[in-house]
Amino acid sequence: MKKLPANLKKLIKLLSDGNYHQGSDLGKTLKITRSAIWKFTQQLKQLGIKINSEKARGYCMEEPVILLNANTIKKKFDAPDQQFMLEILDTTTSTNDHLKKITPKNQVHFCLAEQQTAGRGRLGRNWHSPFGVNIYLSCSWPFQKDLSQLSGLSLVVGLAVIEALKHFTPNESLKIKWPNDILWNHQKLAGILLEITAESNGFSNAIIGIGININSSKQTQDLIDQPWVSLHEITKNYFDRNELAAQLIKQLLLFISEFSKNGLEPFLDLWKQHDALINQSIQFKQGKEENSGTVMGIDKQGYLLIKKSDGHIESYSAGDTTLAKSHTP
Ligand code: BTN
Repeated sequence: MKKLPANLKKLIKLLSDGNYHQGSDLGKTLKITRSAIWKFTQQLKQLGIKINSEKARGYCMEEPVILLNANTIKKKFDAPDQQFMLEILDTTTSTNDHLKKITPKNQVHFCLAEQQTAGRGRLGRNWHSPFGVNIYLSCSWPFQKDLSQLSGLSLVVGLAVIEALKHFTPNESLKIKWPNDILWNHQKLAGILLEITAESNGFSNAIIGIGININSSKQTQDLIDQPWVSLHEITKNYFDRNELAAQLIKQLLLFISEFSKNGLEPFLDLWKQHDALINQSIQFKQGKEENSGTVMGIDKQGYLLIKKSDGHIESYSAGDTTLAKSHTP
């Protein structure tokens, strides 16, 4: 995990107002030379931040970048009773992998990163994670439950993401595709990667990874191989990710604590309101096995219920779903 130089971060802050700044003025503020400023602007470009430079006017950032800040995030919500750690990294391979390596497994620990160099998605896919653009958050959560009692967790996390997003985008179009793809108008807005390990004596630990497309723009982003959307694409606004991170953490604390006490049952109605697959014809893939049928919802454990062509209903605990051709946009 690399830490960016403090002056580089200060430069991002100075330029994030979107105005032009003379190299000499920036140099004076940061107490470094003009050529050091130039070198930093080259580093910013390498991070994917677009910097315009004009001889007469100096440097300007094409799109704003507001960096994540743990204090700003904590101030945005009244701290609940529950204790948790919050860590922000400049860059890491994957926030899930970071938490796997470092966490003492006895407390709730959140980790956000500005950039992931090897972000991971479900089913072995990559998760494109450019610097300062989106949310890459992982949370390590210890449970006094064994693995079999955590089958609904990934659905509850998906619902927490939806609740957080409702503060920032019209909510009618927000749907969840079992088990936990967050869609806006059939396009992927957020994804969840859950990795659960069994500990001793019926305890277990979940590493919950969440990626939300916030300020990605279709003009510059061509590295994603599935239909996607971002809050910026939906609303044309630029979002301060600190606001989103605060809502997300707040909602995760609320929903996962409730799930820990009472399981999936309290969430079944909310699931129905946002279920993207209900009554839809789908193709279903589990390992090498492929099936099709009509989705009848989920059961009390969060398993997907699929009605086959012979009328028989089967439940599935894991797998990947796609809408049958006539329904895809
Ligand atoms: C998916 O494929 O839908 C799941 C994407 C999960 C991405 C997040 S970003 C934060 C965390 N760290 C990772 O490497 N992956 C998850």
